[in-house]
Amino acid sequence: MCGIVGAISHKRNVTDVIFDGLKKLEYRGYDSWGVAIKENNSIAIEKHIGKIGNAKITLATSHIGIGHTRWATHGGVTQENAHPHLDCTKKIVVVHNGIVENYEDLKAQLIAKNHVFLSQTDTEVIAHAIEEERKSKDLKSAVLDTFSMLSGSNAIVVLDIETEEIAACRNGSPLVVGLGIDEFFLGSDVTPFLSFTTSVVYLDDGEAVSINATGVHFFDTATKQEKQKHAENIDWKAQDIEKDGFPHFLLKEIMEQKTTIQKSIIQNKQQLQLLASTLSQAKQIAIIGCGTAYYCSLLGQYFFSQNNVFAQAIQANEFSPFAPFYTKGSVIICVSQSGETADTLLAAKRGKQNGTTIVSLVNARGSSLERLSDICIPVAAGPEIAVISTKAFTAQAAILYALSFLQNSSYENIEKQISAYSDQLSAWLTDKTLETIISIAKKLIDHDHIYLIGKYLNFPAALEVGLKIKETSYIHAESFAAGELKHGVIALIEHDTPCIVLASNDDYKQDVLSSASEIKSRGGCIIGIAPFNTNEFSMSIQTPDSGHLTVLTNCIVGQLLGYYLGVGRGADPDKPRNLAKSVTVK
Ligand code: BG6
Repeated sequence: MCGIVGAISHKRNVTDVIFDGLKKLEYRGYDSWGVAIKENNSIAIEKHIGKIGNAKITLATSHIGIGHTRWATHGGVTQENAHPHLDCTKKIVVVHNGIVENYEDLKAQLIAKNHVFLSQTDTEVIAHAIEEERKSKDLKSAVLDTFSMLSGSNAIVVLDIETEEIAACRNGSPLVVGLGIDEFFLGSDVTPFLSFTTSVVYLDDGEAVSINATGVHFFDTATKQEKQKHAENIDWKAQDIEKDGFPHFLLKEIMEQKTTIQKSIIQNKQQLQLLASTLSQAKQIAIIGCGTAYYCSLLGQYFFSQNNVFAQAIQANEFSPFAPFYTKGSVIICVSQSGETADTLLAAKRGKQNGTTIVSLVNARGSSLERLSDICIPVAAGPEIAVISTKAFTAQAAILYALSFLQNSSYENIEKQISAYSDQLSAWLTDKTLETIISIAKKLIDHDHIYLIGKYLNFPAALEVGLKIKETSYIHAESFAAGELKHGVIALIEHDTPCIVLASNDDYKQDVLSSASEIKSRGGCIIGIAPFNTNEFSMSIQTPDSGHLTVLTNCIVGQLLGYYLGVGRGADPDKPRNLAKSVTVK
């Protein structure tokens, strides 16, 4: 949930490396930020509440440092609770991503040994515990022994200025090491050091690393034994994590869908065909995820039903009661942009314990879910920086579409469909279309409540578009299956109540339109998102008719509507309040 960074380099100013790295990780949490460096023979710290924004760092130049951007869980959003946290000697400083579930017990023991605490965080316990161990051990042993005392999912990075060493451990929360030439980096993901090196080592749960100016050493946190790890080369480029002239990452990533949907299919030709045959023999199939990834799973359930295959979509945070039904011979498809969402990981681990084949559809490479899964389909949508998921969603949905239709059709057919769809999408996603969407956003901007309906494929789409509007503009947007309208929802409709109707030219078009006219007859204002226009619509955004894939374009309209509503209402489209890109705690 938080973002952590570390670096040692005599080739560049590490103070800037850490500060710029935090800007790149800010989508993981933006309640406060802080940097600690070695200056002369002591630790200099700078920390602030709120987003980095246009702030400038005031710390001196240094060759070693760590940093943190926070998503508050324990202790309010205050200056003293901002990371990094020092020990009593002010020689050890710590940043942390996760939750130390037993911190109160540890804190009481340390206070009994006269340690003085300055914050209400769980993290500060780690600094004082290391200080205690450090009295008789070297940094590596002190950090590993302290780490073994912590319960919960945690990643910690520790700087000891006496030995000029950085030590880090991971159990649950992500951590990756960047290997440069005579310089070394650490991060919650690769974005903080992507412009310095593409040679990386992902730490697994129960692993640690010790870094000094001359090199890195990897250890097993339980046995403390040194271990070999192999470096991977990542195919992301530094400019992939820049805005590329767009005002926000969200708009850039929405527009990238002109190419990412097709790329995700073409790049995975073999994997898709292999997996399609595995699925055709599966005893049972579940598709799981959280947030947008769950709505993608639900859309997948409908795609599979179109091919006479029952695949149950389940919210990963509600998977436990259903886990016993998925055993050997079953397949669980785990959908996740980050591959680090705790609830999805837990469900996958549960399924694995039951002998189920775990498949992951993940966008962020090297993630925990990718390494946990038996089969991984890399979504290939490129880095998704905006907290709100867009291009990962449509790429994952396209992959589920392909996997379902491969049950009854050839890869060549599907590739043709997807290429034709991408051409249609590129031809439609023009400035003129954006102007239409902006004009509709302007008409909706002062409403605090918006309702959405859809049927069949457009029901999960209505849920996803509702979520986009909530995440971007903080408008209360509530989505329903069109058929549910008469069973209570219609009571909410009064004069001028906006209701977005998502539809396609499918067998359910008339059903949805009669629901729309019922709303209209009670004074509701109907906004149509569909490949046709009709009198039921008070206003509409017309999408190209792409058959079953029209639903993806309907979702893209929702992404853009959310974006313009958010910008229009002064919200930050890339870093919405209270949200984080991946939720790494239960
Ligand atoms: C939330 C994000 O934290 O997690 C959502 O804000 C996302 O955008 C959800 O859909 C699930 O994340 P992931 O990485 O598992 O797809």
